Amino acid sequence: MNNPITENLTWFPACKTYDVPDNGGVCVKYKHKQIALFNFTRRGEWYASQNMCPHRMQMALSRGMIGSLEGEPKIACPFHKKNFSLIDGRCMSGDDYKIKTYPVKIEDDLVFIGVSEEEDHYETVCV
Ligand code: FES
Repeated sequence: MNNPITENLTWFPACKTYDVPDNGGVCVKYKHKQIALFNFTRRGEWYASQNMCPHRMQMALSRGMIGSLEGEPKIACPFHKKNFSLIDGRCMSGDDYKIKTYPVKIEDDLVFIGVSEEEDHYETVCV
């Protein structure tokens, strides 16, 4: 598990582990949300975040490039290459943006993403 927050979460089955390419991502829909799900094979870890890049409101992060910056997992948006932490969602490129991240757990071959039902929209910060 990469996020210790498990209270008041609904764990929904997103897909099978083999549906997500190694070191890549897919977009998962849950109700009105688009969630980017990442299989970070090099680290043996899974991450999830909102799919929308807050820079230009593009639904694009699932197609971005995952990597690490000073040991921290991050996603680079495919449009203008802004980097976001997959741990806390902060922009690592010096801008005041933030993305929502979600906990992920694997049970057998199923990938579950934890969402809070109280959330009605993404918690993005755009300035
Ligand atoms: S739209 Fe994502 S960095 Fe610009």
